[in-house]
Amino acid sequence: DKDEAAKSWEAEWSLLPHGEASQIDGITLEKQTCSLWEKIWAFQARPDDLLIASYPKAGTTWTQEIVDLIQNDGDVEKSRRSPIQQRQPFLECTRCGRESLKPSPRWRKTRFGPFSCVIYVARNAKDNMVSYYHFQRMNKRLPDPGSWDEYFEVFLAGKVIWGSWFEHVKNWWRKKDSHPILYIFYEDMLKDPKREIRKVIEFLGKNLKEEVLDKIVYHTSFDVMKNNPMTNYTHDKHLNYKLSPFMRKGIMGDWKNQFTEAQNKKFNEDYEKHMADTSLTFCMEP
Ligand code: A3P
Repeated sequence: DKDEAAKSWEAEWSLLPHGEASQIDGITLEKQTCSLWEKIWAFQARPDDLLIASYPKAGTTWTQEIVDLIQNDGDVEKSRRSPIQQRQPFLECTRCGRESLKPSPRWRKTRFGPFSCVIYVARNAKDNMVSYYHFQRMNKRLPDPGSWDEYFEVFLAGKVIWGSWFEHVKNWWRKKDSHPILYIFYEDMLKDPKREIRKVIEFLGKNLKEEVLDKIVYHTSFDVMKNNPMTNYTHDKHLNYKLSPFMRKGIMGDWKNQFTEAQNKKFNEDYEKHMADTSLTFCMEP
């Protein structure tokens, strides 16, 4: 029965090895991503591509679902046609080799580009780090994160998978003045989802009625997405929901439950140094 099936899956999950990390061009990546590196950079952008770019755990899935609903004029049934990872595949993960064969328009999730039409979502580093830690605990594709104290140091050193948070958010911020990039923030989406979704609609050149906008706000709210099997990643066998759900808390300021005082002090000092050369600022408290 159901309980037995859950038990046997958990036993299998616990035996799965954690993913291995490797480095390429000074960036820590999953081994599999390294093997795809050349293909990733050979990806040819088309003018009608739309990329949703982010550092992991910044609100990518949320933005993806918003984009999908906008592109489908708020048709919820259409957006439930398949899991989000199939509707907007992860460019760097598995498909890049076959991308050139796909018809236009292509909507993809990405970490590194290329710089075609891009919606970039960024989240404050403290909450981003906490969310990433819990994700790595439950995701067997990624290396074991170790203890929180260990992870904290690795994150600040920029050695987690996909590299430094600082470099990621700053580089995309720099690029936004010379490329068609809409740069949005997780914290703004939490505070005023309607305003932020409106920005995305305008960027995509769509014209949607107010009631459609309200519908999109509702269907992309945390609770609705948490209960939607097409957005909550419950289909993914590598993720152990008993340890942490994919749609975990969806709040701002959760870092306060995780950081020690000493860690907060160290973080703030490092942050000042890393962010001294950018006009980019983040909100860390609700
Ligand atoms: P937490 O772990 O802090 O809860 P990504 O999609 O980039 O992997 O990001 C996942 C993070 O975004 C998780 O953060 C998840 O809960 C949060 N998230 C996803 N959908 C959300 C929504 N509709 N509203 C608020 N947060 C959301």
